[in-house]
Amino acid sequence: MKAVILAGGTGSRLMPLTSYINKHMLPVGRHPMIQYGIETLRKAGIQDILIITNRQSAGMFIQYFGSGAELSVSLVYRIQEGAGGIADALQLARPFIAEGEKFLVLLGDNLFEEDLTPYIEEYQQQKGGAMVLLKEVDDPHRYGIPVFHPDGAIKHIEEKPEKPESNLSVTGLYMYSSDVFQRIENISPSSRGELEITDLNNLYAAAGLLTYRTLSGWWMDAGTFESLKEASARYWDIEY
Ligand code: DAU
Repeated sequence: MKAVILAGGTGSRLMPLTSYINKHMLPVGRHPMIQYGIETLRKAGIQDILIITNRQSAGMFIQYFGSGAELSVSLVYRIQEGAGGIADALQLARPFIAEGEKFLVLLGDNLFEEDLTPYIEEYQQQKGGAMVLLKEVDDPHRYGIPVFHPDGAIKHIEEKPEKPESNLSVTGLYMYSSDVFQRIENISPSSRGELEITDLNNLYAAAGLLTYRTLSGWWMDAGTFESLKEASARYWDIEY
């Protein structure tokens, strides 16, 4: 399976650091944040990885990770002009994915401790549609939060709700097949001018095609100072 890591955006919650360094290259423990995502993918047997970032940062990624050979992965890069949203970045993966191929999308600021292999295998068995991974959180207003049908299926996802319906967050790991690119054409920019991943996932949910699994291991979105500090402390002794 191939994977796409999204590492563009503005990193506004980590200003002023992110005014001169891309969020995903900020140190977490002894490595840049994004390296943990690359390692998580590699451990799950994924070696073909497309990194999507912006033009200001691409040079730094290439200088640091190069072809990926030192990490035993194969890295290629694409540039997102501007920061038009997660789904806007994702559509740049279209030439990387063959017709009918299934693949994984990882937000570069997400850290997963659990082995993702079982989830990937389950998605490989799934007939079409998309799969998201959920995790219990203390601060659901920061995330995409699913609303469930009585039978437990996802009805829709609310992005950063003021009154969250549950404390289960949609994490930044999504599994799709190539039909996702046609679906992106059917979403429009949100009120903040971005193509939202939640709007995309809601197209699958409305069609009854969005499945989920709930993570048991530790997970974090390291995109705020609080979470960056916690992640850094947790990963301090990890050396690749
Ligand atoms: O971490 C999980 C959460 O990630 C989900 O629960 C939310 O549903 C999802 O919308 C997302 O929320 P965030 O507010 O954390 O998204 P953020 O703007 O931080 O973007 C996440 C990653 O996507 C970030 O690491 C960089 C990348 N990105 C983002 C934008 C807006 C891009 O590559 N390009 C972009 O234009």
